[in-house]
Amino acid sequence: MAIFKLILGLFLTLPVIAQNVIDLSGSDWTLANPPYNNISVPGAVPSQAHLDLYAAGIISDPYYGLNDFDLRWVAESNWTYSTTITGLESSSPTQTWLVFNGLDTFTSIEFCGQHLASTNNQFRQYYFDVSVLLSNCTAPTLSVNFGSAPLIADQIAAEPNQETWPYGVEIVYEFPNRQFIRKEQSDFGWDWGPAFAPAGIWQPAYVVQLMSPPNKSSDIYVRNSDFDISRVGQLNNLPPDQSAPWLLNASLDVLGTLPEGAALTYLFTNSSTNQTISCGNLTNATILANTITGTAVLDPAAYELWWPHGLGPQNLYNLTISVLDSSGATLATVNRRTGFRTIVLNMEVISEEQIAQGIAPGNNWHFEINGHEFYAKGSNFIPPDAFWPRVTSAKIQQLFDSVTAANQNMLRVWASGAYAPDFIYDIADQEGILMWSEFEFGDALYPTDQEFIENVIEEATYNVRRVNHHPSLALWAGGNELESLELQNVNDTAPEEYNFYLMQYEQLFLDVLINIVYANSKSISYIPSSTTNGYLELNFSLPEPMIERYNNKTPGFVYGDTDYYNYDSSVAFNYSSYPVGRFANEFGYHSMPSLQSWQEAISPSELYFNSSTVQLRNHHYPPGGLNTSNFANSSKGMGEMTIAAERWYKVPYKTDYVANFSAWCHTTQIFQADFYKSEIQFYRRGSGFPNRQLGSLYWQLEDIWQAPSWAGIEYDGRWKVLHYIAKDIYQPVIISPFYNVTTGDFEIYVTSDLWSSASGTAFFQWYQWDGTLITNVSIPVISFTVGALNTTLVYATTIDNSTLDYNNAVLYMNISARGQLPNTNTTTTFTHENFFHADSLANARLVDPGLRLTYDSSVQVFTIEATSGVAVWTWIDYPAGVLLNFDSNGFLLLPGHPKEVGYILKSDTTNGSWVEQVTVESLWDNTLAY
Ligand SMILES: *[C@@H]1O[C@H](CO)[C@@H](O)[C@H](O)[C@H]1NC(C)=O
Ligand SMILES: *[C@@H]1O[C@H](CO)[C@@H](O)[C@H](O)[C@H]1NC(C)=O
Ligand SMILES: *[C@@H]1O[C@H](CO)[C@@H](O)[C@H](O)[C@H]1NC(C)=O
Ligand SMILES: *[C@@H]1O[C@H](CO)[C@@H](O)[C@H](O)[C@H]1NC(C)=O
Ligand SMILES: *[C@@H]1O[C@H](CO)[C@@H](O)[C@H](O)[C@H]1NC(C)=O
Ligand SMILES: *[C@@H]1O[C@H](CO)[C@@H](O)[C@H](O)[C@H]1NC(C)=O
Repeated sequence: MAIFKLILGLFLTLPVIAQNVIDLSGSDWTLANPPYNNISVPGAVPSQAHLDLYAAGIISDPYYGLNDFDLRWVAESNWTYSTTITGLESSSPTQTWLVFNGLDTFTSIEFCGQHLASTNNQFRQYYFDVSVLLSNCTAPTLSVNFGSAPLIADQIAAEPNQETWPYGVEIVYEFPNRQFIRKEQSDFGWDWGPAFAPAGIWQPAYVVQLMSPPNKSSDIYVRNSDFDISRVGQLNNLPPDQSAPWLLNASLDVLGTLPEGAALTYLFTNSSTNQTISCGNLTNATILANTITGTAVLDPAAYELWWPHGLGPQNLYNLTISVLDSSGATLATVNRRTGFRTIVLNMEVISEEQIAQGIAPGNNWHFEINGHEFYAKGSNFIPPDAFWPRVTSAKIQQLFDSVTAANQNMLRVWASGAYAPDFIYDIADQEGILMWSEFEFGDALYPTDQEFIENVIEEATYNVRRVNHHPSLALWAGGNELESLELQNVNDTAPEEYNFYLMQYEQLFLDVLINIVYANSKSISYIPSSTTNGYLELNFSLPEPMIERYNNKTPGFVYGDTDYYNYDSSVAFNYSSYPVGRFANEFGYHSMPSLQSWQEAISPSELYFNSSTVQLRNHHYPPGGLNTSNFANSSKGMGEMTIAAERWYKVPYKTDYVANFSAWCHTTQIFQADFYKSEIQFYRRGSGFPNRQLGSLYWQLEDIWQAPSWAGIEYDGRWKVLHYIAKDIYQPVIISPFYNVTTGDFEIYVTSDLWSSASGTAFFQWYQWDGTLITNVSIPVISFTVGALNTTLVYATTIDNSTLDYNNAVLYMNISARGQLPNTNTTTTFTHENFFHADSLANARLVDPGLRLTYDSSVQVFTIEATSGVAVWTWIDYPAGVLLNFDSNGFLLLPGHPKEVGYILKSDTTNGSWVEQVTVESLWDNTLAY
């Protein structure tokens, strides 16, 4: 028999009968790439080749300079991770399995020197019975040979009879042919990121040895589970009866044999006190192959609801499910933290009652949490790093703290990254962040041959089941921009082929994926595409239960959600250019990161606006290929930022090139923030308009690396101007101005997303930029009441340049309102400030506001004061080496009204000395030459 068994046997003193699970995570691995160039370095699991090569000093920081282009050779080589497994149990395991929770992507796996399997999907869990190989094994070696994903994608694309699409449908960022492979689509490049196409064992891996214990009928290992908590009678996509009991459906996928007569029990404990809430047997246990499923009806009185951030508490429960054999012995237990909530994307036809309330006909398109409509406030979450193994829970905790600090309650987990790991959903559960989650298909149409579909079925089933217990899970969407952009592209470029590609689209997104969601969850709604006009019919007795509306629209009716980008900055603040829909799931404009971020990634000599490295890191518009020759696309995007800044603000002309660069980067951020603020005000106002607009998720929450993008948070966690402005404009009760350039109509609205009405007063004052009050056009103090999830017009007038010098007038407005946060019974005072100027700030007669900054270390508060004029876009900046966010930033400051600003410190490598390097400036500083 095997030699290793004899050797291992020497170390075994006691006969062990417990299941043996060996975690293969760690650094006992070697990474090599024969026959390419004979690199052999220490490797790790979970990891990817780029990370291990960087750690070994073979390559420099992949994020530095032009490494996006220069490290193509890493993506174009094979990489082999190998190890010798230690800790194998020799006392007759009944079965030995290898379990990989994620292999990225194309592998050929050898175990004990023999070929075991090949894999081709980054998103699947793979498990292999290696018992036979192990029984004839001289050395328990494991090696995983990763092929080059870009090269293999090209080979698949070149196969005879392979699917093709009309020109332009498959959007190419850097590497082509991503649609043929099941790997993170943005690994091949995107308009905000690099294209490293990494390879490696990117998720944990295990050896599982099942034993034959004397006192049990069988040994099993739970490799995945699916816990679904819905209301009895609930159907996907439809609002359930909120008074119905809860229905728990628990389902475990196991390795090993489920014995006949196996049963399931449940135990709920309060996750903060550990107090037992309930326990019992699951009924109707069924065993289908290696899956056991059972249900229980739960008394709703026993459980407190889970709510998103700002709408109530995040009550969480631990659920323990055990598998028992017929003699009552426990074969396995699984513990997951979960919560009780219903979350539905309501796309039902607008009812007569709704029409009577003034809502435009069409269909609904909004979320309901526990039966309540609410306003979804948030942004789009992209992969937080090009290399997932270095995404830590500390990083996500810090990022999600920023999400809730900015009054957001929903993220869209965008469709062309990776299915988020459980720890990310766990943090979302805790923070109260709803995760609109998507299958990994985006900005392409996909093949539908049988092999591809079968691969997708495995991927989708695993991930839907894996994350279903998280109360933060809000939705499954088939993919990104498929209906609005991809099908539209086909229709525009090859209308005669539209029906053919539509049929393929429907096979994948309206047959395969929807049925996987519906089969594994009653609690989660599904849409085929992130942006959609909703369904014409939902009929659970049809094999394809959802029949889409597409462009089958009636004029005057309002249907789905909107996706809006417009790089013509001349209309940025013209709200008649914004889409009128029920929900805005994507919108934005790109800006530069701060100087501090650029300094992490490029050499000092490249710190100017159109340096070649800056341009080549700007992927809007994407290079469309692999080399560095295509500056034209980038310069178009650089131009859009430049023109927007020049059109709307004073722009810097500083002689110190780094100072000039920094000021320009900052000015592009001001435009970005200003534009998003204008759109968010418009979308939120729509909650009280006929379109009954109930959500805005801007593009995009965070950066994947240091480069120009639509993000509000830079790669290292630093907030751009946008994130501060999002925090401000996502407050529950806001005041916002709407000015029609053509007619001069000027309206001011108060908008609230509270669930009951709020009342208060609005105060207004016009100022000249030097701080002098303007009295001939005053607006009185106004009392208002704003209804639940509604908006109210507080003031309307017409303005013109003869009564008001547009270049020397700024309206300051503030409100103070009393109301109740949802699920509280205390009254809170809500305040909000805003400002308005009728013409571009590029033409404003700004004066030196004489800003002063002081710091009180005893209370850790900065005080900022304008002493000689109005400061617009007042910005407090802090140095590299520290990460913090101020309570507010990017604000208007009136003379004689000092503002106190606290901060949350997240990390500090300066030993506190950063405080002395904090600076304050405003847009006026752009007029200074130095
Ligand atoms: C055992 O392994 C050797 C080489 O490692 C191979 O030649 C032989 O066929 C294997 N025997 C069985 C029964 O698998
Ligand atoms: C590269 O990897 C692929 C996928 O694992 C494999 O099929 C191929 O044989 C490998 N090539 C070399 C030279 O190792
Ligand atoms: C709950 O139980 C866990 C593990 O059993 C323990 O670590 C934790 O301290 C307990 N919490 C409380 C509040 O008792
Ligand atoms: C609750 O779940 C957490 C996380 O899974 C775990 O650490 C803790 O021990 C559990 N508490 C109990 C009482 O099971
Ligand atoms: C669960 O089932 C077992 C075995 O059938 C039974 O002994 C036990 O009383 C049941 N427990 C509950 C809470 O119903
Ligand atoms: C259990 O199965 C019975 C018979 O098939 C069915 O009537 C009952 O509704 C099921 N109970 C649950 C909780 O699913």
